Amino acid sequence: MQQILKLLVPVTLLLTACATTKSNGEKGLKDYYKDYFDIGVALPTRNFSEAETSFFKKHFNSVTAENAMKIQPIQPVQNQYNFAPVDSLVAVTRRLNMKMRGHTLCWHNQVPDWFFKREDGSTIDKATLYDRLKTHIYTVAGRYKNDIYAWDVVNEVISDKKEEFYRPSKFYEIAGADYIDSAYTWAHEAAPDALLFYNDYNEIDSTKRSKIIQMIRGLQAKNIPVHGIGLQAHWALNEPSESQLEQTLKDFSALGLNIQITELDMSIYPKEHQSREWDAARDKNTLYTNDIANAQAEKYAMFFKLFRKYSKQISSVTFWNISDKHSWLDDFPVKNRKDYPLLFDKDLQPKKAYEAVIDF
Ligand code: GLA
Repeated sequence: MQQILKLLVPVTLLLTACATTKSNGEKGLKDYYKDYFDIGVALPTRNFSEAETSFFKKHFNSVTAENAMKIQPIQPVQNQYNFAPVDSLVAVTRRLNMKMRGHTLCWHNQVPDWFFKREDGSTIDKATLYDRLKTHIYTVAGRYKNDIYAWDVVNEVISDKKEEFYRPSKFYEIAGADYIDSAYTWAHEAAPDALLFYNDYNEIDSTKRSKIIQMIRGLQAKNIPVHGIGLQAHWALNEPSESQLEQTLKDFSALGLNIQITELDMSIYPKEHQSREWDAARDKNTLYTNDIANAQAEKYAMFFKLFRKYSKQISSVTFWNISDKHSWLDDFPVKNRKDYPLLFDKDLQPKKAYEAVIDF
């Protein structure tokens, strides 16, 4: 009997420890961060189960449509808008009493071919592009002006190449950089109360960051309505380092604008920005081991420590996707390579990284 009792004690202790683990309580991620910033999630447009909606309600107070508001999905054919999926996401967001970010009015990806072409297939001129972009922005931002409190107006116009300033996108080729000013002006006219953001990735790279800052200062000098910087924050176990992230937040803070972390995730693989084929030698270790889970928790803790430190500037932190059940990183940069980038596992259970983020 004595022996059995002895054995039972550690088991009981263990159970008590689990029951009191912070993540199992009523409080969700957004509650731990209520004095710091909003916590958002990027959602697809499909039906959600009750378990999912109560999970969203517990942890998040902000929503971004993962794809539905981009040009291709929302205006696949000229003047034929696909509002229904967005409307239903707006309704879910309202029902759950959450805020909604808009993403995105002008981006070189997920934009249909017609946007840049005449009926005969030739490329349109600048005036026609202005007309199309203005109509798009007025229609989309105008329709949701009472639903969306912040827009990523322009996404990813800065080049990754050191010697190149603007990305040579179709928009840029046809219109030069002026369309960027106009996009903000039109968004402001269509949705006067919305906060307008510039959104980009790899802002932790000092060269790219300086270019972004230079562009924003240029907009500010011309009194273009730009209110914030969105850091996508598609990061990884190997980057950014603490000092790199701190420098990034410091540099952007100096602009005096709102900062939002708009698309946060942390790949367990070294960061790559271009898609590539599966490589047997390089891609053989795809298991989510305990060591990786611990390293990820540590890194996430560092991110959030710095986010809290800069919480005067940071008003929102949004995760890109819900849980490790599905992430865009499962297919990027390598097709069918499973990734584990988020705070919740495939069953929506909190991971070690979650515990680390709420432990402060
Ligand atoms: C960029 C875009 C997002 C999304 C991700 C990948 O960061 O801004 O909308 O497409 O790529 O999913």
